Amino acid sequence: MKKILITGGAGYIGSHTAVELWSAGMEPVIIDDLSNTQEKVIDRLEEITGKRFSFYKGDCNSRELLDQIAADHQIEGVIHFAAFKAVGESTQKPLKYYRNNVGSLLVLLDWMKDHRILDLVFSSSCTVYGQPEVLPVTEATPRQEAESPYGNTKKICEDILVDFVKSKAGVRVISLRYFNPVGAHPSAKIGELPLGVPQNLVPFITQTAAGIREKLTVFGNDYDTPDGSCVRDYIHVMDLADAHVKALSFLGKQELDFYEVFNVGSGRGNTVLEVIHAFEKVSGQKLNYVIGPRRPGDVVKTWADTTKINQVLGWYPQYSLEDSMRDSWNWQKSLG
Ligand SMILES: NC(=O)c1ccc[n+]([C@@H]2O[C@H](COP(=O)([O-])OP(=O)(O)OC[C@H]3O[C@@H](n4cnc5c(N)ncnc54)[C@H](O)[C@@H]3O)[C@@H](O)[C@H]2O)c1
Repeated sequence: MKKILITGGAGYIGSHTAVELWSAGMEPVIIDDLSNTQEKVIDRLEEITGKRFSFYKGDCNSRELLDQIAADHQIEGVIHFAAFKAVGESTQKPLKYYRNNVGSLLVLLDWMKDHRILDLVFSSSCTVYGQPEVLPVTEATPRQEAESPYGNTKKICEDILVDFVKSKAGVRVISLRYFNPVGAHPSAKIGELPLGVPQNLVPFITQTAAGIREKLTVFGNDYDTPDGSCVRDYIHVMDLADAHVKALSFLGKQELDFYEVFNVGSGRGNTVLEVIHAFEKVSGQKLNYVIGPRRPGDVVKTWADTTKINQVLGWYPQYSLEDSMRDSWNWQKSLG
């Protein structure tokens, strides 16, 4: 069985990807320093898959630990999720973000080269597009100046990957530009575990419905969108996980020194109010929300053109927005 190292594999997207890799006949080996998750996720993965995955609790900036993993396992590919992702915090502590997000990629690439590990899938983000002038966003849409150090780390990492592949380092790399991941595993055993106040809409919705937050504020309802609230492309985390499996399989068939970028989204834009109403419909809960002023710096609307990933990787999303809301709500309820 092909062994794939998943950095940040106990996190939100990484844990779901571990499940999907296992279903596709690949064995995940997980490294996570638990800076934004909990070790019990590894138990939950065992409950879902029936397999205890190898887990290394530690920092993927540690070359020593990576060498230990290479000594213990014949790793054939890497999915690099590990990163800090709080946009607001990144403006306060930029070096923390550059050190972890950019630094870990550098360590990992050196390590892959030295151990002749060929394939890498990298977690990028639609944040690299900023507010695009033309919608939907294709991979050819120009990237814009990053609005935060976090966003900049994604752009810098993409650039590093391009240069590394150009240097004929003997690797094959795909950057996946995620739109807005939502939902949870349908078993409700794993999902997003936001620490503190959630930064994303859907955990805020489910926490408000669960009574953890008093109310949700919708930032602006007077934008040029169907109902005036901001538009995003929400993608179920299981579909996103599947995109990683397809990306790895595809990489395995390419020549060395290969690099490609793919958008991963539903291909649809949904307004904040549509998401709230979809949640209310599937949960039977009336959500306590208010309309507030616009939030400075918010992208007004963005959604993905997914033609490239559909045609090249044969990937299509299987889950609807309602599925995402149902699974997010079941996950929230399972947290008690
Ligand atoms: N969730 C989103 O909205 C979103 C959107 C676009 C891109 N991304 C990117 O996808 C990736 C995964 O995001 P997520 O939502 O699953 O976040 P997450 O915080 O749930 O997962 C990241 C995991 O990495 C771990 N980690 C962080 N630094 C580490 C290090 N140096 N060594 C070992 N482990 C480390 C954390 O403990 C966490 O479990 C990140 O790179 C993120 O920037 C996320």
